[in-house]
Amino acid sequence: MTKNTQEMIGISSPRIYGRYKILLLCLAVYALVVLTKLWHSAEIGQALLLPAPADHLEHYRRTRRLEDYLDNIQILIEPSHTPCDGPERVPLLVLVASAPGRLDRRDVIRGTWAKRQPTYFVLGTEPQGIDGSFADIYLEAKEHGDMIVFDLVDHYQNLTLKTALMLQWTLRRCPQTEFLFKTDDDVFVNPWMLEEVLQDNEDYKLVGYMKNNSRLHRDAYNKWFSPRWLRFEDHLPEYLSGTGYLINGEYIEKILKAAKKVPLLNLEDVYFTYLVAKENLGFNLKHDRRLSPYKPLISTPCSYVGLASIHSLSPDEIYAAWTKLLKVVNNNQTCDNYKFLYSDWLLY
Ligand SMILES: *[C@@H]1O[C@H](CO)[C@@H](O)[C@H](O)[C@H]1NC(C)=O
Ligand SMILES: *[C@@H]1O[C@H](CO)[C@@H](O)[C@H](O)[C@H]1NC(C)=O
Ligand SMILES: *[C@@H]1O[C@H](CO)[C@@H](O)[C@H](O)[C@H]1NC(C)=O
Repeated sequence: MTKNTQEMIGISSPRIYGRYKILLLCLAVYALVVLTKLWHSAEIGQALLLPAPADHLEHYRRTRRLEDYLDNIQILIEPSHTPCDGPERVPLLVLVASAPGRLDRRDVIRGTWAKRQPTYFVLGTEPQGIDGSFADIYLEAKEHGDMIVFDLVDHYQNLTLKTALMLQWTLRRCPQTEFLFKTDDDVFVNPWMLEEVLQDNEDYKLVGYMKNNSRLHRDAYNKWFSPRWLRFEDHLPEYLSGTGYLINGEYIEKILKAAKKVPLLNLEDVYFTYLVAKENLGFNLKHDRRLSPYKPLISTPCSYVGLASIHSLSPDEIYAAWTKLLKVVNNNQTCDNYKFLYSDWLLY
């Protein structure tokens, strides 16, 4: 056999073996990525850590009317000045759901991405009520002027009420904002990309990462558990992930008004973006993958440039991501050849 025919039929050709090796390596890496993703979606960690939330939903048996709650929740602390006080245009207001015990998260956000746009933290109070820890919150609010504190028991299951309070506060203190970005304190925001997302979507009412055809979690130990007595249907056609979504300022009032007619659900994103905005008001939701509820598997400076939000980061990770992003921005570096770093395959 000549070398050529050997190659054609593929017997023990070193070049072909080499190709298989690369293929095998790719398969192995991909399998790792998929397994990581699967583990992530199984929510193993959270399921083990959290107590059954069912008890915390009992107040919904008494009433699920938003007004019954809003009328009784007082505002305890709010900033005296905001960029919304004057006549200037306010393109974006960011409200971050936080909790009294999460000072480390607020501090890292203050020192990083919040420097680029008006950002406020929205908190409830510790379940014990107004006690010693409230003094710390008061001092923190006085020092930074960026806290909005409500007389609401701060609990994951009360996020829907907290989001309603965010809308109400925005209407009162910043009705001229063009967009409200609702996010959480474990989210990293890339302010430069968020600006682009705003420009690309200025005509839409709600913009976020659209989750299609999901099912409600019926296991009481799941963080996103929602019992059948709150919503009977398992299927959810679409909603925008609560890790970060934009609401067009013009529609906040309509959404809050409609919410007063829709019985409350503990899942704030499903409630506001699907039940109220989509189902009740007939608003179209806009999907934008850059408002990602995931994070990059590989953490390099270019991993963060193409996304406007990244979810589930520790304070250290937020700080590291910011440092890396600044490197790209300050050096005017282009990441055009590294777009794969933030493609769906490398997010988990
Ligand atoms: C949620 O807030 C309501 C009203 O303040 C309160 O009755 C309820 O106990 C809170 N739920 C939790 C889990 O703290
Ligand atoms: C959900 O569906 C919309 C169209 O209805 C689509 O644009 C979007 O990409 C889908 N979301 C995801 C995460 O694939
Ligand atoms: C950054 O790069 C862009 C395009 O590559 C260029 O137009 C711009 O002038 C650069 N800015 C600085 C400060 O170097």
